[in-house]
Amino acid sequence: MVPPQSLPTVPPSFSPVLSPASPQAHALCDLFVATSVVCAAIFLLVAALVGWCLIRFRTAPSSALPRQVEGNATLEVTWTLATTLVLVLLFILTVGAMRIADPAPKGRAEVVVVAHQWWWEVRYADGFTSANEIDIPTGADVLLRVEAADVVHSFWVPQLARKVDAIPGHPNHVWLRADEAGRYLGGCSEFCGAQHAWMRLLVVAREPEQHRAWISRQLSLERGPTTAAAARGERAFREKTCVNCHSIHLDQSVRVGPDLSHFASRETLGAGVLENTDDGVRRWLTDPQKIKPGCRMPNFHLTSREVQDLAAFLGTLQ
Ligand code: CUA
Repeated sequence: MVPPQSLPTVPPSFSPVLSPASPQAHALCDLFVATSVVCAAIFLLVAALVGWCLIRFRTAPSSALPRQVEGNATLEVTWTLATTLVLVLLFILTVGAMRIADPAPKGRAEVVVVAHQWWWEVRYADGFTSANEIDIPTGADVLLRVEAADVVHSFWVPQLARKVDAIPGHPNHVWLRADEAGRYLGGCSEFCGAQHAWMRLLVVAREPEQHRAWISRQLSLERGPTTAAAARGERAFREKTCVNCHSIHLDQSVRVGPDLSHFASRETLGAGVLENTDDGVRRWLTDPQKIKPGCRMPNFHLTSREVQDLAAFLGTLQ
């Protein structure tokens, strides 16, 4: 299985919107460019005419002003028609883009994404749950159902799909597709509270075969090698209140905080706020409120020994 870290990050240009990586995102990018060109042409035309008038008649006495035109039917029909045609053209382009970018959902969603303050829960139809990373096979249209657990959020991976609101009690659907293997960055694009900016997500696209290997890895209960510290950490995980909010090993009953079954194989923690390294995990456990003020995880005032043990345990959750 290819770990996400070793896949290329795909946004090469300055704007992810202008580097689409799926037919859906291509349609949106083309519409954006076409609309911008039409608007720029109109702006330049109007600005040029206004500029010409300003310069041409700057010092002219009022007697030298051109004759005023009133009630000219030809002129009025011309500009009404011209504006209507521009609007009709933009309408046709928009409907065409919508048909490609947002086809009607059909069948059952393969992935359910639930937005929380401030992280993403990702539930797969295969029966496991992850967080802040969505894994998809390349070259396939994957139907996502987008929900929210608390307030309104907005799901957006600009290179792959349109933006879609995550609304409590009102699931929305969106198709996700990536034609090339790689990592695609996304995030929440609707202000949802103090840590809105730290609600990032990552779409990891692998070749279909690699993706299948990844799924069977997620379904396995195998762990990395255990040490004495990790064993103490596991005990602490159960005795401290960690288990009240985090589930591990396919137990999907607790959903206050991210599922940690394969925590160590994820790239970031806190929805992008820290890199998922040994040091990052320790900093997070020591005081989550310092790293991400307002997040649901309180400071448990763990001793540095407990922090080390818990970090060692979390490291075994490959
Ligand atoms: Cu969630 Cu902004």
